[in-house]
Amino acid sequence: AAIGKGNFRHFMEKELHEHPAVIGDTLHRMVSPATRAVGLPEDLGIDFANISRITMSACGSAFYAGLVGRWWFEAVARIPADGDVASEFRYRAPPLPRDGLGLLVSQSGETADTLAALRYMREQGQRVLSIVNVAESSMARESDAVLETVAGPEIGVASTKAFTAQLSVLACLALAAARARKAISAAQEARMTAALLEVPGRAAEVLEKDEAIQAIAHRVAKARDVLFLGRGNCFPIAMEGALKLKEISYIHAEGYAAGEMKHGPIALIDPAVPVIAIAPSGPLFEKTASNLQEAAARGGQVIVFSDEAGAAKLKGIAAETVVLPAVDPFVAPILYAIPVQVLAYHVAVLKGTDVDQPRNLAKSVTVE
Ligand code: G6P
Repeated sequence: AAIGKGNFRHFMEKELHEHPAVIGDTLHRMVSPATRAVGLPEDLGIDFANISRITMSACGSAFYAGLVGRWWFEAVARIPADGDVASEFRYRAPPLPRDGLGLLVSQSGETADTLAALRYMREQGQRVLSIVNVAESSMARESDAVLETVAGPEIGVASTKAFTAQLSVLACLALAAARARKAISAAQEARMTAALLEVPGRAAEVLEKDEAIQAIAHRVAKARDVLFLGRGNCFPIAMEGALKLKEISYIHAEGYAAGEMKHGPIALIDPAVPVIAIAPSGPLFEKTASNLQEAAARGGQVIVFSDEAGAAKLKGIAAETVVLPAVDPFVAPILYAIPVQVLAYHVAVLKGTDVDQPRNLAKSVTVE
């Protein structure tokens, strides 16, 4: 049956509203309702205790999901992890270690460069795991193991719900790996799993912030350049925010590690440049806050995405603030992906672009 837009103006708007359900459905595949513990399918056949390194490759938004995954694998599961965009990875042809795991992330499972990266990983003797949204895709077929995102068909060319579903799978995978490697205690695992299971509810609350985000969109729509800043596991969310804005509103945007701003992008800052901060409370909050201070001191319009505690601390320098639900820093990237996508959506609507089918882009890039 053909998929309709329902009461939404665009597929993208409809798909943004599916975030809570998609995250929930994806998590429920991997979390046992009885024990509320993350469990991987028995037949996955990956012994995380004995994996020497994870090598991740993907394209576009899927790559940014993979970068959050890399962060989780290192910080939570203490597995060395690496990652590169597939078009570079395949020609960089890095030597891969014994007992390594190759990890591909893709909505379609058909992206040509990612598929080539997969084949290279196999040649290098890696066990290969794909996270895909299409179960019968080429990547799924050619992998040793597959984990599915339960995002349903995604029609908008710019990825939205598939991204949070990919993050959900990666978070579960990192927790399972952490347990296998005894990298976290039972209490830590319980706390992080509970935080994960709260995300669908918090995601629904984020969607209620639509009006506040729309107000910010009016400001951003006037800009020529926009800087997104984040740190730690939210640095990839800054890059996702910038990519989404470029893709559908055609405004130039860059996602930068907040601490790296002083090594270049700070030269761009003037009152015409919105600086969008992905700044959840957590271990790196104070560091991000001081980077934002530097931007504000140079006249940058600082737009803050944070929780109540963070927003209060940044009150003096923020031109605009969107207050999001407080969550465990572990799951912040999943939650903060939503408002940056919603912002890009509203900016694109204001600019009158073709939101679902932006110029020059394809949903699935099956040629090199
Ligand atoms: C295209 C889409 C992006 C997507 C990327 C990777 O560029 O426009 O939204 O992130 O391909 O696609 P994949 O199907 O591999 O996730």
